[in-house]
Amino acid sequence: MNFKEELRIRTEETEAIIRRYLPEEEGYQKTVLSAMNYSVLAGGKRLRPLLMRECCRLFGAEGPELAPFMAAIEMIHTSSLVHDDLPAMDADEYRRGKKTTWVSYGEDMAILAGDGLMIYAFETAAGAFAATDRPAAVGRCIGILARKTGIYGMIGGQTADVEMTGKPIPADMLDFIYRLKTGALLEASMMIGAILGGADEEQVKAVEQAASDVGLAFQIRDDILDVVSTAEVLGKPVGSDMRNEKTTFASLWGIGAAEEKAEFYSRRAVETLSALPVKNEFLNRLLMELTAREK
Ligand code: IPE
Ligand code: IPE
Ligand code: MG
Ligand code: MG
Ligand code: MG
Repeated sequence: MNFKEELRIRTEETEAIIRRYLPEEEGYQKTVLSAMNYSVLAGGKRLRPLLMRECCRLFGAEGPELAPFMAAIEMIHTSSLVHDDLPAMDADEYRRGKKTTWVSYGEDMAILAGDGLMIYAFETAAGAFAATDRPAAVGRCIGILARKTGIYGMIGGQTADVEMTGKPIPADMLDFIYRLKTGALLEASMMIGAILGGADEEQVKAVEQAASDVGLAFQIRDDILDVVSTAEVLGKPVGSDMRNEKTTFASLWGIGAAEEKAEFYSRRAVETLSALPVKNEFLNRLLMELTAREK
């Protein structure tokens, strides 16, 4: 099977897993449930749960704990997008080819839907306890999910990103922001996969390091696409960073140099994984493809 076909199948499987864990739209809180499901089901590449699963496969068999964590990471990622698009943040009106959650449901419901998704993710992940004979591993994964989402992870990175809007950002601070706002959730995805696959301590460290580079490369490519792509292809507006006066890798280094940096970090991530005694060719290929992705 070629890579593209394999990616299509695995993305479809991931999609089915995510859908299984979404809440029913019922009760007096129905509006927020419907805004949550709208945001998750709008689409998206499902990259984080995909990477989680491939990192699990890298080390061992998929156990029953994996699926709830796959759904949870996509809920958290989606919550970050719902909040990132709000008028007080990036003020964007399209996401995943549809109107953003705040445009469709109002700002109040978008704030609540983001909160709802973020916390329902933990309720979902906690469901893994009922399915496992490794409660310590599940507990550790929930801790990682929290740490990488919160003030030392995505939320920390978004804080610096928002605060530095309209200001020049020194290169080392921009690295810090990207490793947190985007890298941290990729670290959580890949580390949780590795732990549930049975990786040892040193191997989890290596996966964390590789994932941080993947995050940096991924956000650099996102910056480039914001300049060179179209809203039709991306499913979200282009020129958002310029409009918001964001310093990005593209604005700081120029497109050509930014492309080289994305390639460098992706390659380094694959090299870090290659030093492990295990192998997943599909994972390595996926990580390199992300550098040149069109959306
Ligand atoms: C967008 O993430 C936000 C960033 C961290 C750059 P994705 O490009 O993975 O968005 P979806 O999930 O495919 O919509
Ligand atoms: C977003 O960075 C990172 C998170 C949502 C945590 P961007 O603001 O560049 O993401 P897009 O371009 O809106 O997807
Ligand atoms: Mg943003
Ligand atoms: Mg944004
Ligand atoms: Mg962007």
